[in-house]
Amino acid sequence: MNERPAPGSEPTSAANGEDEAREVGVGPWVGPWPEGDHYDPELLAQGDRRNVLDRYRYWRREAIVADLDNVRHPFHIAVENWSHDFNIGSVVRTANAFNCAGVHIVGRRRWNKRGAMVTDRYQHVHHHPDTSALLEWAHERGIPLVGVDNLPGAVPLESHPLPRSVVLVFGQEGPGLSEEARRDCEAVLSIAQFGSTRSINAGAAAAIAMHAWVRAHVFDQPVDGPTLRTEHTEYPTLS
Ligand SMILES: C[S@@+](CC[C@H](N)C(=O)[O-])C[C@H]1O[C@@H](n2cnc3c(N)ncnc32)[C@H](O)[C@@H]1O
Repeated sequence: MNERPAPGSEPTSAANGEDEAREVGVGPWVGPWPEGDHYDPELLAQGDRRNVLDRYRYWRREAIVADLDNVRHPFHIAVENWSHDFNIGSVVRTANAFNCAGVHIVGRRRWNKRGAMVTDRYQHVHHHPDTSALLEWAHERGIPLVGVDNLPGAVPLESHPLPRSVVLVFGQEGPGLSEEARRDCEAVLSIAQFGSTRSINAGAAAAIAMHAWVRAHVFDQPVDGPTLRTEHTEYPTLS
């Protein structure tokens, strides 16, 4: 059965919001419709302009989620959301790209969805009213929490082994990880910086940390360097 986009189905409208000047996706299916419950008759009839991989073209959303569920990676991402942090959308999008088990929003239920580019529809997004609810959720399942923040005493992410099953916890712009989250994390990991800024944005930090997990557990590139604990995380200079 041909799963390729139908011929002659050049983009005709800007529909996924990613770049309003550029049209994406495929038009209506040309020829006899393919068989299978995963196909969405409406998409086959009208075209599929969503921001999904070609292999998921014309699939129902539920079918895509079920397919991703079969191969989700066992790491979770938690973000403390006390101030409508605009980075959360970007975190959700990256979490979808790396097929993480779940994203946990702690604090305010509402978050800025724009940066997620609709990827939240394919992701399991949980809400916890406060940090203790997140901690309880993780404890019940025996999943350790690892904070990601460049706080005094943090350990370099670059040399600290990441557990396979883990909740990586990120703080918000400004204050960073809450005191309560820090206390319950088995480690807090910092990402090496070399410029003048105090921090990178939470979306960028989350992407780096997720990719570190992928390198360790998908590409079998674990790190086992020294886990130095320093006042201000310091790194050797490359010369
Ligand atoms: C803008 S930072 C805020 C706080 C930061 N501790 C400070 O001193 O300004 C927001 C979040 O991004 C993540 N983050 C930013 N830079 C990071 C870094 N170099 N290492 C680890 N996490 C970082 C952390 O999760 C942090 O809570």
